[in-house]
Amino acid sequence: MMRETWKNRITALLGCEFPIVSGPMRLITLGRMAASVSNAGGFGVIAASGLTRAELEKELRTARTLTGKPVGVNIPVYRPNAAEALEVAIDMGVKTVYTSAGSPAKMMDRIKAAGLTVIHKVSGLDMARKAASTGVDAVVAMGFEAGGHVGRDAVTTFCLIPVLARALGIPVIASGGIGDARGMLAALVLGAEGVEIGTRLVATRECPVPQFFKDSLCSATGSSTVVLGSQAMPIRVLKNAVTARVAGMDGAEADRAMAAQGDAHYVGDHGNKDTAVMPCGQVAGLVDAIVPVEDLLAGMVDGVRSLVDTMAAMTSGVRP
Ligand SMILES: Cc1cc2nc3c(=O)[nH]c(=O)nc-3n(C[C@H](O)[C@H](O)[C@H](O)COP(=O)(O)O)c2cc1C
Repeated sequence: MMRETWKNRITALLGCEFPIVSGPMRLITLGRMAASVSNAGGFGVIAASGLTRAELEKELRTARTLTGKPVGVNIPVYRPNAAEALEVAIDMGVKTVYTSAGSPAKMMDRIKAAGLTVIHKVSGLDMARKAASTGVDAVVAMGFEAGGHVGRDAVTTFCLIPVLARALGIPVIASGGIGDARGMLAALVLGAEGVEIGTRLVATRECPVPQFFKDSLCSATGSSTVVLGSQAMPIRVLKNAVTARVAGMDGAEADRAMAAQGDAHYVGDHGNKDTAVMPCGQVAGLVDAIVPVEDLLAGMVDGVRSLVDTMAAMTSGVRP
């Protein structure tokens, strides 16, 4: 059965059915995961971070074999291989790049010359204005409750989205704290035209993290996360034995200690719930089941529609 498609600036820009973007997650959102999200009607993103040229090409080929729908590539601008990742994306026919962690300005000429769409992750108004002035097509506005690296301004999603929606002429994709239809509708009401989900996607069947990570997320509450690291690199993670040890360190020392844990602890078979650094947002408090990606997205889209009906009924007859 054909799914109904939403029509707004984000679905038009990204070529997806619903304005739901998968948050890039290093070594997690690879070809298979991106294809699952795009096949479910959202916009899947492959994180180029941590991949060699050959690995990124392989993940893009994997995505291409699993879906005929568009997927994007996330390029953290500060990484030394950012320019190379952009060339791979262009060569392999990607239509949208998602830049983050640094100003997109230095890549913009090449991106636009190749005719690509670009979305860029921001966490505050100044950053958003600068990104808009470089010519990005949309911003992903990430609030402080998000999982992973968070903004130094510490502005929450609820306060960030309406400010950016008012200040920018380009569309805003809300990120941070969104894991179901209620969060999605709230973001849309605040002025966003799409949402990004990270933490909620970790607890899906398709997500390639170890079971202990998914289980820890499902048993977490809203206060199970902590922001650690320096002012330069604050990161929100699930509390465990590692974070208890790191919490006593100063910022730079904490950065080093967490980097030393390595990615393998959350993507490989080497870690466990006490030794892994597990990026995770406060929305974990809402997550209590591991579900297929398709069910997650369908539940959000259908849920928004029925919530709109509920809201209309709740507010009917309010005016005299
Ligand atoms: C496990 C995990 C890993 C992440 N890794 C990255 C990353 O490598 N690069 C990045 O830009 N964002 C990363 N993020 C942030 C997500 O892309 C997204 O912005 C964030 O998860 C949205 O907030 P939410 O977790 O409340 O849904 C990560 C998030 C999680 C939960």
